[in-house]
Amino acid sequence: MNATFADFSAALAVSYQPVTRTSTRIEDYIRAHEFGRPTLVLDIDAVEAQYTALKAGLGRADIHYAVKANPAREIIERLVNLGSHFDAASRGEIELCLSLGARPETISFGNTVKRPADIAFAHASGITLYAADAEEELEKIAAHAPGAEVYIRLIVEASGADWPLTRKFGTSRDKALALMGLARELGLRPVGLSFHVGSQTRDPAMWESTLDQVAAIWIEARDAGFALDLLNIGGGFPAFYGEDIPHPTLYAAAVMDRVAARFPGVPRVMAEPGRGLVAEAGMIAAEVLLVSRKSDDDLCRWVYLDIGKFSGLAETMDEAIRYQFATDRDHEGTGPCILAGPSCDSADVLYEKRPVAMPLGLKAGDRIIIRNCGAYTSSYSSVGFNGFPPLDVVVM
Ligand SMILES: Cc1ncc(COP(=O)(O)O)c(C=O)c1O
Repeated sequence: MNATFADFSAALAVSYQPVTRTSTRIEDYIRAHEFGRPTLVLDIDAVEAQYTALKAGLGRADIHYAVKANPAREIIERLVNLGSHFDAASRGEIELCLSLGARPETISFGNTVKRPADIAFAHASGITLYAADAEEELEKIAAHAPGAEVYIRLIVEASGADWPLTRKFGTSRDKALALMGLARELGLRPVGLSFHVGSQTRDPAMWESTLDQVAAIWIEARDAGFALDLLNIGGGFPAFYGEDIPHPTLYAAAVMDRVAARFPGVPRVMAEPGRGLVAEAGMIAAEVLLVSRKSDDDLCRWVYLDIGKFSGLAETMDEAIRYQFATDRDHEGTGPCILAGPSCDSADVLYEKRPVAMPLGLKAGDRIIIRNCGAYTSSYSSVGFNGFPPLDVVVM
């Protein structure tokens, strides 16, 4: 029997209270070392702790780590040893996982937009599970991975996530069944449905309307004679960026309770956490390059860092993900600052609509620690925009 959210609350002897989490271990490491360029410091033990916490709440659901969040070899190796499965977006990610010991049957090819040659490569490597949301994609899979299992990705309405993933991926309700029918005609095995609730969904209650939408299609498909046995609930598990979120075990158990209520007896459930698994296991060591005011009566100072949108902090786009910062001057009074990256591109401004409180004495050369940014930073960092090197990664 699956443990429920209530079981976990009791077992952990905690009420459903948010926790605040930052790793002093990584901060101590950064303060004890010099870095000549922006560097992401990863604590692989923290990844393991988070995996174990999420797994405890997810119960029988398989974790397929979304490799795109952070493809560091040490993370993949540790997760292979822990028995994790993987969600790969490309041939490169598949090769990485295989080279580090992941078995092909634990890897799903979850991108709905794939190159035919990469499908053929995955098929030849023994990968049997693929995502699709369009006719052409099913035709490609049928041609290059004949007989494969496919799940249909659904478009779902925005749930209130901080980093929504609506629109680009998924098919709408009126096409889902037709795609499953086509998959069957093409000799594929349409085994289930997938969706993504939106990245950084801070409250498990925000899953409810999405799960309702998916359950309605699941029932329609079952009534139409499709024997679905796989529900892929995607990612969305949150990381701590300063706003309260539940403990990962409680969060995952609360999601699974809601899944169980709507999909009773579904044989296979898979979850694809990326951010929720690795964000809190990494911090970036960065440096202030310049503090200035544009005029003498400016209320806000401009703080230019040696890292920006093109060297790892792409998720500051629209100020969607708001990182937390630590400096050696955090005992000083603070004032509002506009934060910007170092490149000669005026789009490289991190936070302006909502300025960030920074110490009044902050100056060029000061170290800045950017907390809980182990997800979607090194993988977003450009190769060398403006000649700045990509974000370095070190493992403690
Ligand atoms: C198919 C798929 N699964 C999982 C994830 C991971 O999502 P998250 O980082 O919110 O856990 C993503 C993120 O883009 C995704 O596209």
